[in-house]
Amino acid sequence: MNDNFLKACRGEKVDYTPVWLMRQAGRYMKEYQEVRSKVDFLTLCKTPELAAKVTLQPIDVLGVDAAILFSDILIPVEAMGMHLEFSEKKGPILSEPVRNKSGVDKLVIPDTEDSMPFVLETIRILRQELENRVPLIGFSGAPFTLATYIIEGGSSKNFVNTKKMMYQNPGLFNALMEKITSTVIEYLSSQIKAGAQAVQIFDSWAGILSPFDYEKVIFPYVKNAIKSLKKFDVPVIYFVNNCSGLLETVKKSGADVIGIDWRVDMEKAVKRLGKKVSVQGNLDPCVLFGPKEHIEERVQDILNKAFTARGHIFNLGHGVLPETPVENAVAMVEAVHKLSKE
Ligand code: CP3
Repeated sequence: MNDNFLKACRGEKVDYTPVWLMRQAGRYMKEYQEVRSKVDFLTLCKTPELAAKVTLQPIDVLGVDAAILFSDILIPVEAMGMHLEFSEKKGPILSEPVRNKSGVDKLVIPDTEDSMPFVLETIRILRQELENRVPLIGFSGAPFTLATYIIEGGSSKNFVNTKKMMYQNPGLFNALMEKITSTVIEYLSSQIKAGAQAVQIFDSWAGILSPFDYEKVIFPYVKNAIKSLKKFDVPVIYFVNNCSGLLETVKKSGADVIGIDWRVDMEKAVKRLGKKVSVQGNLDPCVLFGPKEHIEERVQDILNKAFTARGHIFNLGHGVLPETPVENAVAMVEAVHKLSKE
């Protein structure tokens, strides 16, 4: 198996810098669109044969060094008891957002095998199909990022309802965070037992918080989740979008790998994070709109800047955008492999 990805996670010597792309399976790929034209997104997530199929598409098309389970961070939120829909225009919609005690009380901590068996079945299929190719990454949203969807009822601009609950009713907010954290721990543990060889925790919205609130209010939960996963011998990647103001705290998370968004200079991020963790990132996804020469130049720059890190996994600084030309994503992967061998 090509295990450069797992080695880089642990800070071991690699043949070249491994690379994958956050949201690497998706609409920018015609192979994905073909599958999606026949089923809606949630059905795709819940049909193991199809979810496995689209997980493998970027492995074949891009030549990346890791596969990531095809699913969505909101799948366990639905299993907690909320009604989930995906609208083409608005993205995810959770009807009846949770804003009071009875809402929090109604949420359950789901058993993955009982209420999301399709996720585990997808992992089992993928491990068979990936045998001797690349490792499989499982994932979950981080407790706070999931809380924003649960409280806002979908995507949000200013996260006013989330912050209102944090400041006006901290007891309720903490009770909600407790429940979500237990869900995340059970969900990721089940993915690992089913065969996930690494897990990534997406904290897409932690960057909307002040460093004060991040450290005091929400960090203990994600740190606790990461700690609970330590008993499994699989690397944990913690990605915090908009992490630049938070890195000194993120460093203390206990994760093996810290995912960095593109707004931070990689060299400075490596200095701030120190030698005990590997780093992942951090090309601006929009660089993939540019000419290939520019992509190569930017890949080289990040490789140089991450050179002193304990380990480096090349990635975008956030998910690949639907408008991305596939050939430019391929060019990025090839550039990472070629330039890091030199
Ligand atoms: O990385 C992969 O290839 C695995 C699949 C994956 C998806 N979502 C598939 C998806 C992963 C890892 C996610 C994570 C996810 N989902 C996050 C965290 C990462 C991030 O981007 O910050 C978040 C915040 C979500 C919630 C979500 N799902 C939103 C806001 C949307 C709508 C906006 C959008 O990008 O379409 C989704 C839908 C979604 N999730 C799609 C895919 C392929 C598009 C669905 C479609 O086919 O129409």
